[in-house]
Amino acid sequence: MQKGGTVAFPTETVYGLGANALDPKAVFKIFEIKKRPTFDPLIVHAASMREAFLLCSEVPEIARTLAKKFWPGALTLVLPKKQIIPDLVTSGLSTVAVRVPNHPVALELIHRARRPLAAPSANPFGRTSPTSAEHVWNDLGEAVDMILDGGSTSIGVESTVLQIQGDQGILLRPGGVTLEELRKIIPVSTVTPKELESSEGILSPGLLKSHYAPNTPLYLVKDSFKETLKWLEGKNNEFKRLGKPWPRIGALCFGQAPKSPLISALVNLSPKKDIRKAASELFQAMRKLDKMEVDLIVAFPVPEMGMGAAVMDRLRKASAGKNNLKPFFE
Ligand code: TXA
Ligand code: MG
Repeated sequence: MQKGGTVAFPTETVYGLGANALDPKAVFKIFEIKKRPTFDPLIVHAASMREAFLLCSEVPEIARTLAKKFWPGALTLVLPKKQIIPDLVTSGLSTVAVRVPNHPVALELIHRARRPLAAPSANPFGRTSPTSAEHVWNDLGEAVDMILDGGSTSIGVESTVLQIQGDQGILLRPGGVTLEELRKIIPVSTVTPKELESSEGILSPGLLKSHYAPNTPLYLVKDSFKETLKWLEGKNNEFKRLGKPWPRIGALCFGQAPKSPLISALVNLSPKKDIRKAASELFQAMRKLDKMEVDLIVAFPVPEMGMGAAVMDRLRKASAGKNNLKPFFE
């Protein structure tokens, strides 16, 4: 780390690809390895609240209150940055995203490096995030100097990114800390994807519409499993009449999902409808379906409450707006 190397390490959310945040050359390696565009800024990880806020030029009282409540943990705070943070880390923005991860290996690594670590998720840009060391190895392999194996991550989706403006918060990315939890402490506004993408909205340039994508096209349908199955039955009859081969469909479900001969592979995020369990299984499930060599993945919506917001955000981006099965079957 001190010599400018890169280390992949576990956090409670997903695995990160870390480098010394104060060394632009080291940070550049992260962008190269991930093939990440440099307009997408990185999160800086510190071992304590004190060290995290040392990187910020202003720390409003409300940021301290949130940090005390949620750190170490899955909350990233966006605050005005100090000069020592290289522009490459923040993509030239005047703010920096900071968080203290809640994982003994991550904390020990930062501690021993004696430097804050810039670390995005340890996956190629735009693809499914890694929740185990094996995922990192499969995705990045020897491009990384070292991979620390801390088993599977517990939360399984990335941290919540919250920009602090005055005594308010702006939610830039839903994640491990829920909107409901934040709103108990601070008024939080949300931004529409349009606002995030607009040229003025350099709020969070990395929050692209397409992200987290598996290799197989993923469709996030609006209907329930039952309704979709009914529609597929109609299509299947049509295909039979025309003598067309039926595609291999992988289903990504939540809650009740009976088996059907029309579906080749089924991964249930949580048959018991436990949304935290679903979040922790999400990326692993996408990878599993990818491996099963299906022609398309049909994902079903989860209730958009609590951690459900983060799960739906990831599914929407993984689908890149594909929410209608019709075009696939034409
Ligand atoms: O859970 C996590 O946050 C994981 C682990 C490794 O800590 N990291 C992670 O990093 O998800 P990454 O690079 O995949 O996502 C960082 C997000 C991006 O959407 C980026 O646009 C946003 O944070 N971000 C970083 N700096 C920002 C800033 N100064 N202003 C606004 N958004 C920022
Ligand atoms: Mg990422």
